[in-house]
Amino acid sequence: MISRKNFRALSRVSVNVYGRTAKAILSFSCLALCAIFIPTHSGAQSPAASAADRTTTNPFDSPALDQKVNELLQKMTLQEKIGQLVQYSGGQATGPTSGRTDDQDMIRKGQVGSLFNVTGSRETNALQKIAVENTRLHIPLIFGLDLIHGYRTTFPIPLGLAATWQPSLVEKTARVAAQEASAGGVRWAFSPMVDISRDARWGRIAEGSGEDPFLGSAIARAYVRGYQGEHLDAPDSILACVKHYVGYGAAEGGRDYNSTEISEHTLRQYYLPPFRAAQQAGAATFMSGFNSLNGVPTSANAFTLKQILRSEWGFKGFVVSDWTSIPELMAHGIATDGATAARKALLAGVDMDMMGNLYHHDLEQLVNSGQISHADIDEAVRRVLRVKFAMGLFDRPYTEEKNESPAMLRPESVAVARTAAAQSLVLLRNEAVTGSPMLPLSANVSSIALVGPLSDDALNMIGSWSALGRGEDAVSLRRALTEKLGASRVVYAKGGSILDSSDSDIAAAVHAAQKASLTILALGEDSPTMTGEAASRAWLGLPGRQQELLEKVVATGKPVVLILFSGRPLTLPWAFEHVPAVLAAWFPGVQAGNAISDVLFGDAAPTGHLPLSWPRLAAQEPLYYNALNTGRPASDPEHPSVQGEAKYISRYIDAPNSPQFPFGFGLTYTTFRYGPTQSQTAQVALADLQKLLAEKGKPGSVVSVSAEIKNIGARPGTALAQLYVRLDGTSVAMPVRMLKGFQSVSLAPGESRKVTFELDAETFAFWGAENTYGVEPARVTIWIAPNSAEGQSAKLEITAR
Ligand code: NOJ
Repeated sequence: MISRKNFRALSRVSVNVYGRTAKAILSFSCLALCAIFIPTHSGAQSPAASAADRTTTNPFDSPALDQKVNELLQKMTLQEKIGQLVQYSGGQATGPTSGRTDDQDMIRKGQVGSLFNVTGSRETNALQKIAVENTRLHIPLIFGLDLIHGYRTTFPIPLGLAATWQPSLVEKTARVAAQEASAGGVRWAFSPMVDISRDARWGRIAEGSGEDPFLGSAIARAYVRGYQGEHLDAPDSILACVKHYVGYGAAEGGRDYNSTEISEHTLRQYYLPPFRAAQQAGAATFMSGFNSLNGVPTSANAFTLKQILRSEWGFKGFVVSDWTSIPELMAHGIATDGATAARKALLAGVDMDMMGNLYHHDLEQLVNSGQISHADIDEAVRRVLRVKFAMGLFDRPYTEEKNESPAMLRPESVAVARTAAAQSLVLLRNEAVTGSPMLPLSANVSSIALVGPLSDDALNMIGSWSALGRGEDAVSLRRALTEKLGASRVVYAKGGSILDSSDSDIAAAVHAAQKASLTILALGEDSPTMTGEAASRAWLGLPGRQQELLEKVVATGKPVVLILFSGRPLTLPWAFEHVPAVLAAWFPGVQAGNAISDVLFGDAAPTGHLPLSWPRLAAQEPLYYNALNTGRPASDPEHPSVQGEAKYISRYIDAPNSPQFPFGFGLTYTTFRYGPTQSQTAQVALADLQKLLAEKGKPGSVVSVSAEIKNIGARPGTALAQLYVRLDGTSVAMPVRMLKGFQSVSLAPGESRKVTFELDAETFAFWGAENTYGVEPARVTIWIAPNSAEGQSAKLEITAR
């Protein structure tokens, strides 16, 4: 095994579908882009190569920057230094309130380093003026915001963006968000949330990229590149804040803010990689979490913050706490007073106190009493100032007010929103109705009944974090269908609200369904209250009487398309058996209605794939495809045990082990046949892999694997070929499958293409029994497959000789 320092290489791209030159390391955004626009294996330099290069440079590694920071630091009083470590919400509260005093007065006294929830160039400029003109050292403030999936132009929720499996598209959405936010005076996004989550009960699963570290890493890099742009000091670049460091998504029972227990192996193998990927892409800031990790709260966890983030990874930016997560150290039980909480957080490596008010209140006394050294304070302040200098804040603290309004909702931004929304939709079911698949619909349909509480709800389309998103900017499904088909062909019957329907609401909806040629049902969750933060659910069915509405509409015998709006997979076994077509729409953003209409009528084909395992029952959670095999695996995970079969195996007696739909699943309007996976070689020498891993940054293909994919349907389509690997014979048990690559392939009806993945040493590397990163002799199984549960595998041996 080689040392853990080589972890740096983990988030490098391990697969290059287009051949690789000795120097080029392509990012997955490039791969996705190339996969769409370059149908053949070209070996040519990718247009995104420079973006990939940026992932290896650290924007804060500059002696000139350090000099500026040190010069300023020397002039600062202890109080002024502490001020840089303090952050308040200047707007609406999103958590328990702090005991803060007046913002403006504190800014004037140099007691605040950052504000968030203040938006608009006029508002931010006015407060910035106080910091720049009325304080002794003129240090500007950074304005932050929960900019999670867009500023004014709202894109699909992050889980929906992950379902596109297109990092290049995610990068574009983040770029638009950065342009709009910076025009509104906001230079810091509290995004991306890169928490791996294996449990759909957790409401915040909506805010991340799902359950897989490889996909999650590719998307994490894309957000960082999009927000921070080519140059951090460009006026339209904003800081990324990678959160919630770390393990928050493993909240026990899926209950928000709950404790997490994650072994070091599992932490390094599954939970840390997206954070590492974001840091390698140059992310300027991190946010510590609310959760305790193996008994030590993550906002006072020196192992994760100091050892891993700072020492192993060399992170030079700063860490902000989550909202009051420093005073919460008292509730966790590791501090009995505020001063101790402040001391523990600062010494563990949390540089800025978000809303906790404790750094403001206690740090000075802690220094004066010798419990914290001046050097500790200086180090934290240095990190904050380094970022402020690197983003050009001292040179350009203000925002040009005249540029703000033209930056919002530009037509090209709205076009990105429409594409992203269409490509986030996952077609889960599309059964034949009178001989042909239910979808796509014909635009000549004589009448459609549009039913359900979410069918005319623009505000809900915006999703749980809305930044400056407005309901009036969003296109509801009703509006889009009416514009496309004309009001006379769209018969709307709401059928009640999300939580409450009367008998007569349901009867009216059934009546509308009976009269129309088909029904589109828009059902699901209420995004602000049922998804996102503090919105964990123990039961994952349709809220209110929506299941009853669904069953009664289906009972009319008329064809039904179900559109599910949700921040998580919903457990709807009845629907997946009885409704001909089901589309998972998440919350698609401002272009929701138009994008759904594009897909319903076949103007765009569905191309989304699940970034998580879709459970049959909430009781299966946590459920994830990259699980270990166990010593007694079920041979048929589709079925619970049957009397007379072997009893002592790992399964339920009353439910299947398998999900309703596996990770990576997604249908489209044609069908693909995947041929067997073929490996060009049967053996790889361990020493060769070790040598390649040791030569960090020097990728090289060690194995070429391929499979023939054929479009056997009648329409053109795009397949998402996924590459999975399994290792047997290793020092620690490895999952039954691990995603290690993906590429899109567009095929005309009847066309086949050989899809090739070039695997490098990283593909086979993992965290071993001693928590060191490297390669080991192993028997390798490799699949090129349409999802995590299918495919015909090839075998390979990593030999010690
Ligand atoms: C708490 C949330 O956990 C975090 O994601 C968010 O950025 C902060 N509140 C600020 O609103």
